[in-house]
Amino acid sequence: VRALRSAASSRGLYFGAAIQTATLGDSRFRASVARDCSVITPEWAMKWDSIAPSRNYSYGEMDQLASFAARNGLTMRGHTLLWHKSLPRWAASALASNRDWALIDDHFSKVIGRYGSQVREWDVVNEPIEPNHGGNGLRRNQFYQAFGEAYIERALESAKARAPRARMVINEYGLEYNSSYEGQRRLSLLRLLERLRSRGAPVDTVGLQAHLDLRKGNVYADGIYGMMRDIRGMGLKVAITELDVAEANTGLSIERRDALVADETRRYLDIVLQFNNVLGVSTWGLSDSHSWLRTQRSVANRGLPYDREWQAKPMHSAILTAF
Ligand code: XIL
Repeated sequence: VRALRSAASSRGLYFGAAIQTATLGDSRFRASVARDCSVITPEWAMKWDSIAPSRNYSYGEMDQLASFAARNGLTMRGHTLLWHKSLPRWAASALASNRDWALIDDHFSKVIGRYGSQVREWDVVNEPIEPNHGGNGLRRNQFYQAFGEAYIERALESAKARAPRARMVINEYGLEYNSSYEGQRRLSLLRLLERLRSRGAPVDTVGLQAHLDLRKGNVYADGIYGMMRDIRGMGLKVAITELDVAEANTGLSIERRDALVADETRRYLDIVLQFNNVLGVSTWGLSDSHSWLRTQRSVANRGLPYDREWQAKPMHSAILTAF
């Protein structure tokens, strides 16, 4: 089978995957990552609550990933500087009582200072959109509570000052399907990007998580196409950052399940990869042996390019042919 990274690079794109530090103990995992990827995303190790569960930062797990990347000539996606789900308790309470940007700035300076030389794209703000929280479409997270909408712009500026040559990314989910909720999510994201651009905030890339989900039907071509066109119209790049496919019916035959997963992957990539402002594609894991979909739901999913025995599945060829 052809390596995903070489198929991608023949189109001027990169291919990457999210990696849990523990999987580095598995030699098959290491070999496949080195073969298929030119970029890795720390699935958990770089998040604030992983790197600083207490005020004392502990870099051990993240350092392991970073040195694996360095040894294999891989770059990393910086995932993620600010995410409402990974704020450690100590930081949450400091933020709530002091509303002091120095806390955020200090975190950015530690993480970017240590890993910045290996990172070309920083997911500066992860998942800021939630139309159900209010009229401006923004999630009322801990950062919003402390600083209002300005937290997004400030975060972009703080990160940019420390990583002037890296891409500054807003990374978001829930933008793929034809429900009124996902329609509002697309609109809210576009509006945020417009506001940021009009204020001159240093955002240059949109991260589309792309957690596809067959329980929601099939991806909504018109909605995705329109969103991509508007993003490109603003002069922004796009990265597909967390591609995987949650299954609707795990009771079907393996062949049928794998075909449905591959079809959905192809449908999505065929729309997004028509656009010339796409930088690359990352999947959220590489083999079904380690997939967050497993912890999300009680049943094992087949939503990644390789199965548990490292056999390439139809999803793998769907990605290859989409490139
Ligand atoms: C998930 C990881 O896969 C899990 O292992 C972890 O426990 C929680 O985070 N959107 C994101 C990712 O941006 O960081 C999330 O990753 C999945 C959803």
